[in-house]
Amino acid sequence: MFSDLSIQDLETFVDMVQFRRYPKGAFIVNQNEAGSAMYLLVVGRVKVSLASPDGKELALNYLDAPGHFGEMSLVDAEPRSADVIAVTDVELFSLDAKDLSSAIQLQPRLALSLIATLSRRLRQTITRLEDMAFHDATHRIMRVVLNVATASYESRGVPVVQGLTHYDIATLAGTSRETASRIISQLARDGIVATKGRRIVVDLIQLRERLEMD
Ligand code: CMP
Repeated sequence: MFSDLSIQDLETFVDMVQFRRYPKGAFIVNQNEAGSAMYLLVVGRVKVSLASPDGKELALNYLDAPGHFGEMSLVDAEPRSADVIAVTDVELFSLDAKDLSSAIQLQPRLALSLIATLSRRLRQTITRLEDMAFHDATHRIMRVVLNVATASYESRGVPVVQGLTHYDIATLAGTSRETASRIISQLARDGIVATKGRRIVVDLIQLRERLEMD
């Protein structure tokens, strides 16, 4: 994002951001609080999630570096839409709300990247709403496994789900841990996934075909 800036512009940008580290488990953003900064994730993975008053959790997404979050409150001046929690140790740069427009003037591609990210998230949310309305838990678990494995294939060349427990997969699919485990075991028996410890290796073609048939 910033690699084509001149040294002078980079120095200006560096003065706008603050480097921060968060340990695994830390809440970086709290739902409903006022937002005063956005974050550029440089190392690690975070979970974006909602908690219900009776303690249930709905995971909206997992974000890996490089990426950004916390921009919504800055753009629409509403409270934070979700919690953002470090699932590994995390390193990031925070950018204060007051500096967002100066950062965009320095690197206009930042604005385009913010819009592209929001569009992608909206598309994911539409798909998810569709799945919740029209499909059962089996379909939703298969969709989560397909999405995570496809993202892994695109970024690292291997179609795996790793670093997520069955509980994590269940909260992404809006179902229980028991249901997620049962469906993943069935997919393994059908030869569509292979589980190796905490890694799930996915046959993307077969899983996509199964989802289309469902
Ligand atoms: P903000 O509302 O400021 O704080 C919470 C952040 O979580 C939000 O900005 C987004 O950056 C991020 N977020 C909210 N919903 C999603 C989603 N569905 N997928 C990914 N990130 C999200």
